[in-house]
Amino acid sequence: MKKKVAFFDTKPYDRRSFDAAEGSSEYEIEYFETRLTERSVALTKGFDAVCAFVNDEISATVIDKLYENGVRLIAMRCAGYNNVDVCHAVERIRIVRVPAYSPYAVAEHALALLMTLNRKIHRAHLRTRDSNFSIVGLVGVDMFGKTVGVIGAGKIGKIMTDILCGLGMNVLVYDKYQDQKWAESKGVRYASLDEIYAESQVITLHCPLTEESHHLVNKESIEKMRDGVMIINTSRGPLIDTKALIKGLKSGKIGAAGLDVYEEEADYFFEDYSEEIVTDDVLARLLTFNNVIVTSHQAFLTEEALANISRTTFSNMDTYFAGQHGPNEICGNCEDGNCVRHQNR
Ligand code: NAI
Repeated sequence: MKKKVAFFDTKPYDRRSFDAAEGSSEYEIEYFETRLTERSVALTKGFDAVCAFVNDEISATVIDKLYENGVRLIAMRCAGYNNVDVCHAVERIRIVRVPAYSPYAVAEHALALLMTLNRKIHRAHLRTRDSNFSIVGLVGVDMFGKTVGVIGAGKIGKIMTDILCGLGMNVLVYDKYQDQKWAESKGVRYASLDEIYAESQVITLHCPLTEESHHLVNKESIEKMRDGVMIINTSRGPLIDTKALIKGLKSGKIGAAGLDVYEEEADYFFEDYSEEIVTDDVLARLLTFNNVIVTSHQAFLTEEALANISRTTFSNMDTYFAGQHGPNEICGNCEDGNCVRHQNR
């Protein structure tokens, strides 16, 4: 009998790539548009697995209910799993993820935000659409020779580093774990966070959201940054204390911000609210700055990434239903000891 999988927070592009992926016919799939939450978890009765995404709320309560409903596998179709109570799931439900689907997609989106903000392309586009061909106020800087701080040099941060080196920028890297061989081969240097704050004209965030990295960009760290610094965040919203960011933008301390993620994004991102009023005053304020670009968690959204996500998700499910443990399991028998549970031991 085919295993039943409930997909949550499904959009037309998810459905298209999952239906087209090899392996999809092995499963009985039901696509739900709603996010997985304490309310919608009731829909999972009789399913063997759920497939979830970044803004699903997989709390202890949701996990208990999933278990009660017969679900034994949570297949995350993303890399991050900060929205899953992993420790609570241990011994109840197994969790798999897609650790890398296209680090290029995310790094290239971060670059797009950086370049758009610097050369004010978003403003120029609006002007020329309105037959305003003035270039007053659109002065940027050469990125060549400028210093950029990359915080978190894993798969995405390393590709971002390559791209920034290609622009001729001086790259400083901060990571909890250093890969000196890689740094030497790229001609980049590991630096402390304080050094990055003091020296960088651009800071780009590529570390995961953990207790330690929560509000990494806050009032105190912003004070240590260079005047006019540009901040790019394609990682997770809560890495930035948004109210502190807004204060920095208002005072001019922060020169620009490119945000693909936002602390309270779950209430808005991925949905069309164009017929309604945005009641989140913090988000609304962010959207008023002409030196801020907000994209709604779309850095991953390339054809290649979607194909990799669906292929890997089916392969993860195949491994689980064959009674095996695979390398993409977040916890349980993870092979590299790099899961949340092992790190917390
Ligand atoms: P990765 O696991 O390959 O790299 C993360 C790096 O951050 C590692 O080198 C790790 O040592 C480092 N790190 C961990 N804690 C840190 C801390 N407190 N301070 C500094 N560095 C720290 O992950 P990958 O694939 O590069 O992804 C990075 C993040 O990008 C993910 O955690 C996810 O939140 C985000 N992401 C966003 C997407 C989007 O569409 N906007 C899509 C995919 C990932």
